[in-house]
Amino acid sequence: MSKRVGILLCGLAIASFAMAQTVFMTNDSVAVFYPSNYDAKQHQPSPIFEREPAAVNPLTASWPLRVDFSEKEGHSIATINVADDVDFYGTGEVTGPLRRNGRTIELWNVDTPAYGMDGGTHLYQSHPWVMGLRKDGTAFGIIADNTWRQKITTNDHQVTFDSEGPAFRVIIVERESPKALMQALVNLTGTMSLPPLWALGYHQCRHTYYPDGKVMEIADNLRRYRIPSDVIWMDIDYMDGYRIFTFDPDGFSNPNRLNAYLHQNLFKTVYMIDPGVKVEKGYFVDDQGTAGDYWVKDRDGKVFEGKVWPGACHFPDFTRPEVRTWWATLYKDFMAKGVDGVWNDMNEPAVFERPETTMPRDNQHGGGDGVSAGPHLRFHNVYGMNMVRASRQGLLLANPQKRPFILSRSNFLGGHRYAATWTGDNLSSPDHMKLSVPMTLTLGLSGQPFNGPDIGGFCENSNGELVAQWTAIGAYFPFVRNHNTKGTIPQEPWAFTPEVLNVCRTAINRRYMLMPYIYTCFREASIDGMPVMRPLFMADAKDLSLRSEDRAFLLGGDLMVRPQWAPEVAQPNGGSWQKLTLEDGTDSYQAELRQRPGSIIPLANLAQSTAEMRTDSLTLLVCLDSYGEAVGQLYEDDGDGFGYKKGDFRLTEIKAVKQKKQLKITYCQKEGKMEPIERKVRIGLVSGGKVSYSAWQTGVEMTFSIK
Ligand code: NOJ
Repeated sequence: MSKRVGILLCGLAIASFAMAQTVFMTNDSVAVFYPSNYDAKQHQPSPIFEREPAAVNPLTASWPLRVDFSEKEGHSIATINVADDVDFYGTGEVTGPLRRNGRTIELWNVDTPAYGMDGGTHLYQSHPWVMGLRKDGTAFGIIADNTWRQKITTNDHQVTFDSEGPAFRVIIVERESPKALMQALVNLTGTMSLPPLWALGYHQCRHTYYPDGKVMEIADNLRRYRIPSDVIWMDIDYMDGYRIFTFDPDGFSNPNRLNAYLHQNLFKTVYMIDPGVKVEKGYFVDDQGTAGDYWVKDRDGKVFEGKVWPGACHFPDFTRPEVRTWWATLYKDFMAKGVDGVWNDMNEPAVFERPETTMPRDNQHGGGDGVSAGPHLRFHNVYGMNMVRASRQGLLLANPQKRPFILSRSNFLGGHRYAATWTGDNLSSPDHMKLSVPMTLTLGLSGQPFNGPDIGGFCENSNGELVAQWTAIGAYFPFVRNHNTKGTIPQEPWAFTPEVLNVCRTAINRRYMLMPYIYTCFREASIDGMPVMRPLFMADAKDLSLRSEDRAFLLGGDLMVRPQWAPEVAQPNGGSWQKLTLEDGTDSYQAELRQRPGSIIPLANLAQSTAEMRTDSLTLLVCLDSYGEAVGQLYEDDGDGFGYKKGDFRLTEIKAVKQKKQLKITYCQKEGKMEPIERKVRIGLVSGGKVSYSAWQTGVEMTFSIK
């Protein structure tokens, strides 16, 4: 028997019978494939989509990809054969390399501390999304609109979704480039709303700073050692016996005073809230939830109890709209104590002493608002997503004038609408540091632009060398937080040697100077879905040499970051990006930065907190293209609140043109109704591995002499 026939027979054995299907296209090169036995009640309304894709036309004959639906042993399977040679990306929160060909990923959110390096393990989030990039730079995206437990397999010419739930629909999007595909994804799933500016600063955390005096000491040290920083985090020990929405009467007896102290020192505060509610009569959260009958039930309809930090816990059934509304009300008094942001952890949900550290698959959820009731097997993967959806509602209720900041450990495709994320309990090891680059990139390509790892590593003791190396690249991640677990040695930047402290300070200083640029990148992500941290192939989707590069990365469209531990990396655009040697001195740990020819990157003067950052004084890093021109964008607004939605912002295009020995800078306000301002500006001309700085000038149009 020839090999080819063998493969065909094997294919027949897997697909016990092929199923008829209906397909339609939206008016936006999106095709939706339905298996013949599709039961919308098992899947819709979809948590993934912001709006249901609307049927417009039958599928055209030229549409390149089809879905084959089949069933086997109670599993529903969707297979997409891809004729072209394709590089796969996405698939969510995964370990292993950026390029995802030849992988199987289980979608079943699990608390997985110190996870393994390469595939196999399922982590805290699920993204049934595969992105394909063809050799010619065209791209497609595949969404399995299915929350039930499933596996994704990406073989070179085939993508398979194999689910333990009922037959599901598949959505395929075709686009001319990966950038256009990211836009198409947010057209379906909605965009991330703009975070508050402070959330883009440096965050200091540990499990756990206790008591409040320790928190103040950390704040004082951040200022004393001149580590620019915006946020201090309160892990579980601030609570009274791990009862959520309470404060420990000894260690955190006066949260208002603590938070006021932190605010005076220009810090924001983030506090942890877990889903598990301690079972205890007289504890207001448990009493309210029991009175309202808000808890997840077991298969016999009895209230489910499972162990987490406080001991026996009840778990809110976040599939039910009335439970989300109740949960939202809990935040009002809590936030009023000076809490600025919320950390939703353990929301896979993690349940101790149970198989796969979670609740039974046949637990029951109630649904509502069009979502039918169903088993945990269906709702497990969206437990965290529904929780942060409710938390976001709560933060908006508590502070309608402020942009909510929520960090969630668990989430699902589309959950970027509600919360940012981090990559859970990594390990303090060089391998995990290296892994944090493809993990962050992959989450970005899976529609979650605001994410990052625990810098320095969470599990086990870190060390100065690792904290220095990790901070030197972590300063360019979308979310920048140093965090470690209980019982390990301290790993704040000053915990080791003066050298480590200097390395961390220089890297974080650079992030703060880059903040106008980074904020502009976040604004872009909030509109067109482009990841803040991007793989190099985004610079040139046709350059095949960039497709597997996952040590170096891009921050926005104009800045390339190469870690020192990766001396040889692929270079976009024939190596024409120019090295940036900044004037703040350097050391052997700092990432190499390169700027795209034809771009302008606006830098602010160094501030110790984003609250102090000003954009009326800017250094413009200008990297001219071969025509002697460069263009950059600068987005500014109040840094918080929603005025920007009514036009209270300023999007400025900055242009540089070389005319003989002069560089002419002009500003053009593209959007927004904030008045243009007069700025103090100097340029840093980036060329030949050097940055040549001009004198400062003030005005709207300026001409600088250059060599
Ligand atoms: C698990 C989280 O992943 C970790 O970041 C946190 O410190 C611990 N829970 C304790 O709350």
